[in-house]
Amino acid sequence: MRKARIAVLVSGGGTNLGAMIKAEREGKLTSGKIELVIANKADAYALVRASDAGIPTAVVLKKECPSQEAFEDRIMALLSENQIDLIVLAGFMAILSERFTSAYPERIINVHPSLIPSFCGKGFYGLRVHEAALSYGVKVTGATVHFVNEVPDGGRIIMQKAVAIREGDTPEILQKRVMRLAEWKILPAAVEKVSAELMAEK
Ligand code: GAR
Repeated sequence: MRKARIAVLVSGGGTNLGAMIKAEREGKLTSGKIELVIANKADAYALVRASDAGIPTAVVLKKECPSQEAFEDRIMALLSENQIDLIVLAGFMAILSERFTSAYPERIINVHPSLIPSFCGKGFYGLRVHEAALSYGVKVTGATVHFVNEVPDGGRIIMQKAVAIREGDTPEILQKRVMRLAEWKILPAAVEKVSAELMAEK
């Protein structure tokens, strides 16, 4: 069966990208193949991870585009040139408009570092999510993989995994634990699940 052609959009360290590359190498991600990594930051370490794995990369900088529309058009052109079936947002810290998200219904997935609907939506990204969880005082947090629609962090949930908060946790310690115990596990698993479903439809 044909594999889903996957593009991963990144902004930073790319540990989630790394987890997907590892899953492919270990035969845990077999229904899809990462064909392209697009970053909106020229110095994103995720680009190094992609190159090391032999995956083509592209950089699209917002500041080099005259408008949000032009920024998204450049990404959309890359997706179409590469015949991408599935878009994975893995630490992609840029807003995508409804015009973009509605062009790929249930074809964009995102990993978020909390149990949605807690600590999500506008302003909740990266370390801020863990700061908010700790300052609220929840005893359990986790990660969510969901489809992306026009509502920030509002699309249909695909997978979630809970992670316990421990005494003495800092946002940095908690972020690492949520990545290790939840994100790096459920993101590759969800990508495999959605890829298999997509290819079964063809
Ligand atoms: C991850 O924790 C991811 O869940 C989060 O940014 C980090 C990126 O790390 N994403 C969001 O907060 C999106 N709202 P990575 O670059 O090492 O994968």
